[in-house]
Amino acid sequence: MSNVVIVGAQWGDEGKGKVVDLFTSWADVVVRYQGGANAGHTLVVGGVKTVLHLVPSGVLHPGKKCIIGNGVVVDPEALMDEIDLLRSRGLLSDPSQLVVSENAHVILPYHKRIDAGREKQKAIGTTGRGIGPCYEDKVARRGIRIRDVLKASALRDKLESRVGEANAQIQALGGDKCELQPLIEWALKLGERMRPYVGDASEVLSHEVAKGRAVLFEGAQGTLLDIDHGTYPYVTSSNTVAGNAAVGAGIGPTAIHSVIGITKAYTTRVGNGPLPTELHDSVGERLRSVGAEFGATTGRPRRCGWLDALVLRYAARVNGLSGLAMTKLDVLTGFEKILIAIAYKLPNGKTVSEFPSDPELLERAQPIYEELPGWKEPLGDQREYEELPENTRRYIERVEQLVGVDAIAVSVGAERAETIVRKNPFRHP
Ligand code: IMP
Repeated sequence: MSNVVIVGAQWGDEGKGKVVDLFTSWADVVVRYQGGANAGHTLVVGGVKTVLHLVPSGVLHPGKKCIIGNGVVVDPEALMDEIDLLRSRGLLSDPSQLVVSENAHVILPYHKRIDAGREKQKAIGTTGRGIGPCYEDKVARRGIRIRDVLKASALRDKLESRVGEANAQIQALGGDKCELQPLIEWALKLGERMRPYVGDASEVLSHEVAKGRAVLFEGAQGTLLDIDHGTYPYVTSSNTVAGNAAVGAGIGPTAIHSVIGITKAYTTRVGNGPLPTELHDSVGERLRSVGAEFGATTGRPRRCGWLDALVLRYAARVNGLSGLAMTKLDVLTGFEKILIAIAYKLPNGKTVSEFPSDPELLERAQPIYEELPGWKEPLGDQREYEELPENTRRYIERVEQLVGVDAIAVSVGAERAETIVRKNPFRHP
């Protein structure tokens, strides 16, 4: 067996949760390595919908080990709400099933206030979960880690020096400041509740890897939201690409064997920033309503458009994709024609087939589309690839050809069972 990373190949919301949930049947351990409660992974099992923000989606499989790595920023309240919900459903009854890294950074109320204040000044369209300000504190070496909220004296020392600065920032942005004492009490109380789950995640994971157990690394957000490789500054504040799985989990990159990129059968984005194939017409409207394209975390309507092969080729490059999983194909049923962007016409008159790294060019890029015939047959009941309508297969195979990566799984509905897996990603070739 091997270890597999799953990443979003677009702007997030590709349906990673569902694919992770499915692939977990072959995995022993599932790891989150970046991001925080800005992610929203929706899973539907037996008609019951669960939205997870922090705990790896693998938790819905009893007995699988779940790890929240050092690279994640943890909102302690959101984490405990999620744990409570899972426990009320009879899951996570053994606390040792979940290990939260003691080195993960903690999102505190002042991070959220700074996030909210900044959005009023220059809207990136963040989720408002305090993600950026928490990662800023981490890089500035003034962050509060999970280990700190387990120790009253350490926490007081660190917060005493940090809260004053944070409050100055909040007040300059027109927000309400945080009081030190209630903040300390709040954090310590949540620290106590988190304690049974906290541990040395890197060590736990390295033991699992040494035992040859199959590990699934669950990326959050998407490639185009990566802080280095995304559409900066309209990005999240972590590296969402596969290379960060090793860093954010505390293992070496040689422990990773394959990388699967999740793509919707079309494109969506929440928040601001360029989206070359965005549709402002009835087609975009239809994708949004049929695909229920509203944010799992914020409820915001998602911007929708046709699939963009340049985006996927770029994702294949920066993640080293070994396979694709295509979700929500059923949403495309009934369209007479289906379009795929295969090149961009740039404002300087040039036509390019590679995703431009210059944001100014990207902002004004005009997609050049290829048209494929649609299909009318409803999807959902097919369990074998060959049972799919001919034009659905033709669409999938054209995407594979344009991206240069095989689609190892395709999903035809929201339920766990409504996925056709063509290749087990955990098997070495
Ligand atoms: P932040 O991560 O809350 O700072 O938001 C930065 C950008 O990333 C915004 O455009 C958000 O809409 C986007 N974003 C963050 N998390 C997700 C996600 O899980 N899915 C899709 N977009 C996200």
